[in-house]
Amino acid sequence: MPEFANPFPGNVPREMSDTELARAIMLDIAAELEAVHLYLAHMEATTNEDAKKVLYDVALEELVHAGEFTSLLYRVDPVSGAKAQEGFDEVSELLKIRAPAEVVQLEEQERAEDSSSSAPPWLTVGSLVEVETEASEEPAGMRG
Ligand SMILES: [Fe+2]
Repeated sequence: MPEFANPFPGNVPREMSDTELARAIMLDIAAELEAVHLYLAHMEATTNEDAKKVLYDVALEELVHAGEFTSLLYRVDPVSGAKAQEGFDEVSELLKIRAPAEVVQLEEQERAEDSSSSAPPWLTVGSLVEVETEASEEPAGMRG
C-alpha cells in the first residue's frame, strides 16, 4: 500500500500553496486507488453474488474518482501532466516497437540478414520457451 507522509498532522492551519495542494491531490489519488484495490480484493474473496456486484460497481466508481483527481492534479501542477504524458508516449512507442507481429517480422529479417549465424535458423526466444516447457513435461514416471 502506498505510504505518503502526512503533511497535515492536525487541521490545516492555513491555506495551502499550489505545491501543497498538488501533493494533497496525489494523496487523494492514492487513496482512491487503494480503495479500488480493497474492493476488488473483497469482491474476489466472497461468493456472495450481490456483494460481488456492489463491490465491483463501487470499485469502478473509485476509478472515476481517481481520474477526476488526476485531471485536477494536471491542472494544478502542469509539470505532473507533462511528465505523465511523457510516460504515455514512452509506453506507446515501446509497445509499437514490441508488437508481436513486428517482433516476428524483425526476427525473420535478422535471420535473412545473418544466415551465417551459429544459432539454428528456427531458434527464437519463443522457441526456447517451448523447448524448456517440453523438457519439463516429462512423464511422471521419468522424474527423479
Ligand atoms: Fe472515491
